[in-house]
Amino acid sequence: MDRFLIEGGAPLQGEALVSGAKNAALPILCASLLSSQPLVVRNLPPLRDVRTMTKLLTGMGVTVQTLSSEGSAQEILKLEAGGVDKLEAPYELVKTMRASILVLGPMLARFGQALVSLPGGCAIGQRPVDQHIRGLQAMGASVEVQKGYLVARASRLKGAHIATDMVTVTGTENLMMAACLADGCTVIDNAAREPEVVDLAQCLIAMGAKISGAGTDRIVVEGVRELRGADHCVMPDRIEAGTFLCAVMATGGEILLKGVCEAHMAATLDKLRQSGLQVRATDDGLWAKADKRPLPVDIRTAPYPGFATDMQAQFMAVNTIAQGTSTVAETIFENRFMHVQELQRLGAQIRIDGHTAIIQGVKKLTGAAVMATDLRASAGLVIAGLVAEGETEIDRIYHLDRGYDRMEDKLIALGGRVRRVKSAA
Ligand code: EPU
Repeated sequence: MDRFLIEGGAPLQGEALVSGAKNAALPILCASLLSSQPLVVRNLPPLRDVRTMTKLLTGMGVTVQTLSSEGSAQEILKLEAGGVDKLEAPYELVKTMRASILVLGPMLARFGQALVSLPGGCAIGQRPVDQHIRGLQAMGASVEVQKGYLVARASRLKGAHIATDMVTVTGTENLMMAACLADGCTVIDNAAREPEVVDLAQCLIAMGAKISGAGTDRIVVEGVRELRGADHCVMPDRIEAGTFLCAVMATGGEILLKGVCEAHMAATLDKLRQSGLQVRATDDGLWAKADKRPLPVDIRTAPYPGFATDMQAQFMAVNTIAQGTSTVAETIFENRFMHVQELQRLGAQIRIDGHTAIIQGVKKLTGAAVMATDLRASAGLVIAGLVAEGETEIDRIYHLDRGYDRMEDKLIALGGRVRRVKSAA
């Protein structure tokens, strides 16, 4: 397993290019299942999760062709689902990436059946998929669990009025994709408003889907008989951008993040400004500068446009060195504080009370060996390592590689002292 060795204390200076958004790319790749014609997807981040998704789709019979040059940071794939012959998402892949559940809606809508493994346990919380299932059942599908698999069938899905019990991002995406080929009109109430949902809707609309309301809490889909091919460019990764901004807030310095969409980042930018970051939009991204120890900022995660749970660990890392006490409340996932114990190993003063972490800012962190537990927790540890005195060793970096493209290269280009140590195996 690869590790990071980070020598803390260097301020970040320079430019970095933000990749395409993982959480937009994954559902968009699944949208290829909705048509027999080719879907070209641009600005794909070369990440482990993207590989896993293309492996899953290839296994089902989707032809995947790479149009970009090898090693490109902005991959272009052409996906053609004309010859799909295996309507199954196997446990081996689903257990490594929960977003595999996103093939369920498209498969059922186009082929009338689907076999998708239940994802099983997850480090950050229970993460059931009951809302995906209930929505598809409301559209006339039969869904049962057999031997750990969801077995779904429907002759043709029917438009329905669905109100999800909570805001669910992939749930909204699955139901929106399924509704595109349903007979009649589907209304999804309490829909997720995340920019990634809007990006998927734009791709589907380019494929001929009749969708309105994406980006609001009511999405209306008028089903059509079939969808056509399209060419879509994935939106920039607002979480990667936010992670780099937290890093510069923690270490101090001045950076230019290219390719970011400021409009997607209002909640993060608001909190970072409260923390003391100077930040403004430029022609092609965001400029940011930090020259003081962070101020403590209270955070409460919430569905978009609230503060993203995917930014919680990174912001907590900033708060650990703030000039005072702050609170971080996690309202989306019940077990997303695993970075706390690791941050404590670096000298952070954090106490957990239920869903809230109370952080007493300290003047400095001190390097130590820590373990990455999930994707965003790893990013929080990298930020802490960049600011800690001495060397921090972060094990299990494969978590980070799921969602950040060559993070160490981008940090090194900004002056961060980060080294990847390859595992012997
Ligand atoms: N939930 C249910 N039942 C469902 C669906 C969700 O109870 O059927 C609950 C979840 O357990 C959770 C809450 O609803 O407590 C919200 O979960 P949501 O469904 O929105 O999460 P997700 O769609 O599985 C996506 C991102 C996550 C991100 C969350 C929240 C993708 C591929 N994943 O997950 O990203 O944290 O939304 O914004 O889009 C990450 O990138 O590190 C990551 C975990």
